[in-house]
Amino acid sequence: MVSSIAAIFLLASCAGASLPARQDTGIPPDAVYPGAADPATQAGAKTLESSPPFYPSPWMNPGVLDWEDAYAKAKDFVSQLTLMEKVNLTTGTGWEGEQCVGQAGAIPRLGFRSLCMQDSPVGVRDTDFNSVFSSGQSVAATFDRGLLYARGYAMGSEHKGKGVTVQLGPVSGPLGRTPEGGRNWEGFGPDPYLAGVGMAQTIKGIQDAGVIACAKHFIGYEQEHFRQSGEAQGFGYNITESISSNIDDVTMHELYLWPFADAVRAGVGSVMCSYNQVNNSYACQNSKLLNNLLKDELGFQGFVMSDWEAQHTGVASALAGLDMTMPGDTVFNSGDSFWGTNLTLAVLNGTVPEWRIDDMAMRIMAAYFKVGLTLDEPPINFNSFTLETYGPVHASVGGDIQQVNWHVDVRGDHASVIRNIGARATVLLKNVNNALPLSKPKFVAVIGEDAGPNKFGPNGCSDRGCDNGTLGMGWGSGSANFPYLVTPDSALQSQALADGSVYQSILDNHAASEIEALVSQDNIVAIVFVNADSGEGYISVDGNEGDRNNLTLWNSGDDLIKNVSAQCNNTIVVIHSTGPTLVADWYDSPNITAILWAGVPGQESGNSITDVLYGKVNPAARTPFTWGPTRESYGTDILYTPNNGHGAPQEDFVEGKFIDYRYFDKHNITPIYEFGFGLSYTTFEYSNLVVTCANAGKYTPTTGTTAPAPVFGNNFSTNLSDYLFPNGSFPHIWQFIYPYLNTTDAKAASADPYYGKTAAEFLPPNATDGSPQPLLPAGGAPGGNPELYDVLYTVTASIKNTGKLNGEEVPQLYVSLGGPDDPKLVLRGFDRLSIDAGQTATFSTDILRRDLSNWDPVKQDWFISSYPKTIYVGPSSRNLPLSMPLGQALNQTLGNSTLHNVIDRRHKLSR
Ligand SMILES: *[C@@H]1O[C@H](CO)[C@@H](O)[C@H](O)[C@H]1NC(C)=O
Ligand SMILES: *[C@@H]1O[C@H](CO)[C@@H](O)[C@H](O)[C@H]1NC(C)=O
Ligand SMILES: *[C@@H]1O[C@H](CO)[C@@H](O)[C@H](O)[C@H]1NC(C)=O
Ligand SMILES: *[C@@H]1O[C@H](CO)[C@@H](O)[C@H](O)[C@H]1NC(C)=O
Ligand SMILES: *[C@@H]1O[C@H](CO)[C@@H](O)[C@H](O)[C@H]1NC(C)=O
Ligand SMILES: *[C@@H]1O[C@H](CO)[C@@H](O)[C@H](O)[C@H]1NC(C)=O
Ligand SMILES: *[C@@H]1O[C@H](CO)[C@@H](O)[C@H](O)[C@H]1NC(C)=O
Ligand SMILES: *[C@@H]1O[C@H](CO)[C@@H](O)[C@H](O)[C@H]1NC(C)=O
Repeated sequence: MVSSIAAIFLLASCAGASLPARQDTGIPPDAVYPGAADPATQAGAKTLESSPPFYPSPWMNPGVLDWEDAYAKAKDFVSQLTLMEKVNLTTGTGWEGEQCVGQAGAIPRLGFRSLCMQDSPVGVRDTDFNSVFSSGQSVAATFDRGLLYARGYAMGSEHKGKGVTVQLGPVSGPLGRTPEGGRNWEGFGPDPYLAGVGMAQTIKGIQDAGVIACAKHFIGYEQEHFRQSGEAQGFGYNITESISSNIDDVTMHELYLWPFADAVRAGVGSVMCSYNQVNNSYACQNSKLLNNLLKDELGFQGFVMSDWEAQHTGVASALAGLDMTMPGDTVFNSGDSFWGTNLTLAVLNGTVPEWRIDDMAMRIMAAYFKVGLTLDEPPINFNSFTLETYGPVHASVGGDIQQVNWHVDVRGDHASVIRNIGARATVLLKNVNNALPLSKPKFVAVIGEDAGPNKFGPNGCSDRGCDNGTLGMGWGSGSANFPYLVTPDSALQSQALADGSVYQSILDNHAASEIEALVSQDNIVAIVFVNADSGEGYISVDGNEGDRNNLTLWNSGDDLIKNVSAQCNNTIVVIHSTGPTLVADWYDSPNITAILWAGVPGQESGNSITDVLYGKVNPAARTPFTWGPTRESYGTDILYTPNNGHGAPQEDFVEGKFIDYRYFDKHNITPIYEFGFGLSYTTFEYSNLVVTCANAGKYTPTTGTTAPAPVFGNNFSTNLSDYLFPNGSFPHIWQFIYPYLNTTDAKAASADPYYGKTAAEFLPPNATDGSPQPLLPAGGAPGGNPELYDVLYTVTASIKNTGKLNGEEVPQLYVSLGGPDDPKLVLRGFDRLSIDAGQTATFSTDILRRDLSNWDPVKQDWFISSYPKTIYVGPSSRNLPLSMPLGQALNQTLGNSTLHNVIDRRHKLSR
């Protein structure tokens, strides 16, 4: 009872502060809130669940903070455009039609060159003289906001230097529901708070460099298998629709949507909708996702673009909130488009209202101006489809050879950023007998293919679709060409020679007798390099169709470790991987003196790991996911076999918000290495937890209505002959997607056998309604209701470096929200502090209103439950030496500054 009194006290005073208590919902305080029941029993986790309609599509709000200038410029520009010019902005010109992986139509009349969309989240893809950065998952392990930003800024600068308009990244879909997920390495790990910080910092970096960032993939895209039916058919699965991720509303808000809220709040200019369905509606035409969650509730003011060929309908996707189709064709190189000609027709025949096409154009141009782009950007200076200087201007057509690559070196001094991040992202998982750092060892043996080069060169496999040599990157469209790849073998050899050590390496995992002969010698330190790879679903490597088939190491890595450690009592293991691997078989061997996870570090791999092994960088990184004892211990898995006949495979997210550490905590499973864990070469002591109430105001649900949908520019002609291809003025390029009609017979021009259905016949109610719409209680600004970001408490703790070496420490704040359906703990704050030996530093972090809130699926708003809440501070999710119930925190605050609080409280009571 004491704790519940504390909780009430909390709600009554400091958290006058907080959201309405559950009492305000009319439900008695101790009743279990119906919406917060076991997620398995909730609607959205059910097979064949449906997605509720939400219309009309929210139009932009030109007055939103930080978007006003951009919208003023967009209005000037868009007001000059004709209907077909607006359509051009929204529609890609077709696969391999121009230089970039996707390009919108140009507006030649105004001298406006087309927008260039280019992969990837680790660097500029498909070109040369670019850098390759560490993966999102690796940089997340730094737990360092400054490094996250620096990487984003450097990547953005490189894209800018090549003439790119939109960098297709960062990623928090997949979030990492299952450790086998093929593209998990592209994102920032399965914790939504860490992923949200990763998204926001990366986006700010990219956009400060003058390039639009693209938060992707929205949403529920948690596995590669069955993401597209055509791809799946290629692997022999006879399905006709993409997988449906069935997700309930609470899980959506508290887990998967969370990092996207941070992305929108950070001002991201574009969001990419994903291949999969959510609750059996395709993500790029799902009005619940795009209209309701993204544009209305999160107040997103930029534009939504489709993933490549993720669009499945024309009018329906336009009204559900899609703003740009990429790369524009219905299927690669069909020459047909759901938009282009069809969108022109749809506006002319009234099924897509004029305000909707204007909204698309305004959103695209506002994002453009927001990042500082101008109407006369320098030309694109590379071509994604050849590295040769001269090549076809339109790769899809061939012929017409001209200069297409200028080989602009955009790398700047980014090598040092990448090397630094690689080292600061390396997690020290085990270190006994002071095995590390190395100091002029007598004899170094380096073992394993993962220490050496790919025989075919670092870019020898297309889109890095193989696992040969050291793993510097996963595979798929999230890749980029290496300018070079410093292997661990070469960097460690240079270090050893400088030290006067003896150095020998064996890079063949299967050379058992030669390895045995080497590592059984005396006075040796054996460093074994192993890996596990994954990537995007269009490439299968060793039978792994994007997603990993298992969690063991590749290329007999586990046997290699066991063989070496059987012979050598100073065996150090370095893992390069795209997620956790199973280490239970060998991690506790007394002969294995150190274990490091080096993620996928990018081009400076060998230098980064050398810096850590030799103590030039004192490690502080933390594992951004849990290392479980078995595959089953994660509780979630990939759906590897279609489970719905030829229809959409159904993946029910029955675990709700309990993924990764939240699952381990709930089911009392002891991980090998817990989320947030990582060692240093020095030691730290935590003390003196202080929690201060910030006296935030009371939460006010947003009310009111929007303005009516605006339209921009002059009335357009309804005479179809004004929309014909302008014969003679420029050549019609084969397979290109244009906004024009080829005949004044609308049905023939659309080439759609179903052409002519009226809005009333196939559109949901209100889909074309441009009248003022009610605002959502949880909405009101980019990121959602701005009061969700009010600071409720500030937490500080003292951290002393008690060892002999200078170092860095990553203090973490966790919160227990206290309810029966809440995770035991959730991460809600962290920092990375540099603390010299013997010194003490102060960790300070804010707890925001959203950090203590749950989603109420009935009221469709956030609330703070009356369950007692406790905060914890420590070096990992399972090592939390400091804790305090928030009720007690309030007492402490009152004790410290009673007067201030009492006055504040009276003030609130008198209102
Ligand atoms: C649309 O874009 C295409 C490709 O960039 C261009 O050739 C065409 O002139 C544009 N049409 C209009 C009406 O601006
Ligand atoms: C896929 O299933 C459909 C429906 O049963 C069938 O008509 C078709 O032949 C199958 N295709 C293949 C390649 O097995
Ligand atoms: C219009 O869209 C339909 C599908 O809805 C497609 O079959 C047709 O080819 C498109 N027309 C053009 C001209 O691209
Ligand atoms: C309007 O145009 C769209 C796109 O071609 C088409 O799908 C729809 O059937 C048309 N509707 C009417 C009423 O002509
Ligand atoms: C490269 O990797 C593939 C598997 O990804 C393997 O089959 C092949 O043997 C490797 N080749 C070399 C030269 O290492
Ligand atoms: C796991 O997958 C990797 C890569 O395909 C393979 O090398 C390894 O043998 C597999 N492990 C098991 C236990 O099957
Ligand atoms: C540890 O290494 C020594 C050789 O230094 C070997 O004799 C011993 O069997 C190894 N122990 C284990 C548990 O592998
Ligand atoms: C390994 O074994 C040797 C010889 O038995 C011993 O001198 C050395 O201290 C051991 N090293 C470690 C790291 O245990």
